[in-house]
Amino acid sequence: MPRPHVHVNVAMSLDGKLDTAARNGAPISSVPDRARVDRLRAGVDAVLVGGRTLLAENPGLTVKSLALRQERKALGQPENPIKVGVVSEIGPDDLPADGAFLAGGPAEVFLFTSGRTPRKVVARLESARARVVVNGKTRPKLETVLETLYQAGVRKVLVEGGGTILAEFFRFGLVDEVSAYIAPCLFGGATAPTLADGPGLLPEEYSRLRLVSVEKFDEQGGILVHYTIPS
Ligand SMILES: NC(=O)c1ccc[n+]([C@@H]2O[C@H](COP(=O)([O-])OP(=O)(O)OC[C@H]3O[C@@H](n4cnc5c(N)ncnc54)[C@H](OP(=O)(O)O)[C@@H]3O)[C@@H](O)[C@H]2O)c1
Repeated sequence: MPRPHVHVNVAMSLDGKLDTAARNGAPISSVPDRARVDRLRAGVDAVLVGGRTLLAENPGLTVKSLALRQERKALGQPENPIKVGVVSEIGPDDLPADGAFLAGGPAEVFLFTSGRTPRKVVARLESARARVVVNGKTRPKLETVLETLYQAGVRKVLVEGGGTILAEFFRFGLVDEVSAYIAPCLFGGATAPTLADGPGLLPEEYSRLRLVSVEKFDEQGGILVHYTIPS
C-alpha cells in the first residue's frame, strides 16, 4: 500500500534527549529553530505526535506565521496541516474541546486510538469534529495510520515525537527523512526521552542514514543535521 513521505523532526540536547528526565517539555529550540519548524509544518499535509506528548502537552500543532498560512491558502491548501494524534487510550478528561489540539486552527484533526478508549470518549471527540479511527486492541498500528492518511490525501507527514512513537516509525522502516536541531546543552538521565526509545532496535531494524547536510544553525551554537533514509 502506498504511504505518505515521512519526515521526522526533533529538537534535542547534545546527548540526544528530547526532554529532561522530569518530562516537563523542557525548552530546547531557539527562536530561529522554531521558525524553521514552522516552515516545515507549512510544507506538509499533516503533523503527527505520539500519545504521551499529545496528552501531556495538548499541542496546537498549527503554523504560527500568518505569511506562511496565507501562502498555503494561495496554493489552495488548507491554512494548517491536518493534526494527527496516535494515542492508545484517551480518558474522559483528556483533550478538552477548547484545548489547543482540538480547538487551535482552523485545522482538520485525526485521532488514531485503540479499543482501550471508551466509546463515550470517542463520541465526545467526534462531536468536537475530530475524525477518530479505532484500530488495534492495545495500540493503533502505524501502517494503518499512514495508509488512512494517504487515503485522506496526505502525501507528506511531519512526525514531531516523542521517542516511543519515533522508535516504532524507525523499527517498521516508515521514515524517509530525519532532521534534528541539536542544542548546546546536555540533559543526561537514563529515563529522559531520546530520538528512538522503546525496547531498542534489532540489527535488522537499524536505520542506515545518509547525511544530507550539517550546519551551524544559530548564534546560540545550535547545530542542524539532516539525513535521508534510503528505502
Ligand atoms: N524535543 C522534541 O522535539 C520533542 C518532540 C515531541 C515530544 N518531546 C518529548 O517527548 C516526551 C514524550 O515522549 P514519549 O516517548 O514518552 O511518548 P510519545 O512517543 O509521545 O507517545 C508514546 C505513546 O504513544 C502511544 N502509542 C500509540 N500507538 C503507538 C504505536 N503504534 N507505537 C508506539 N506508541 C504508540 C503509546 O501509549 P501506550 O504505551 O499507552 O500504548 C506510547 O506510550 C515528552 O517529554 C515530550 O516533551 C520532545
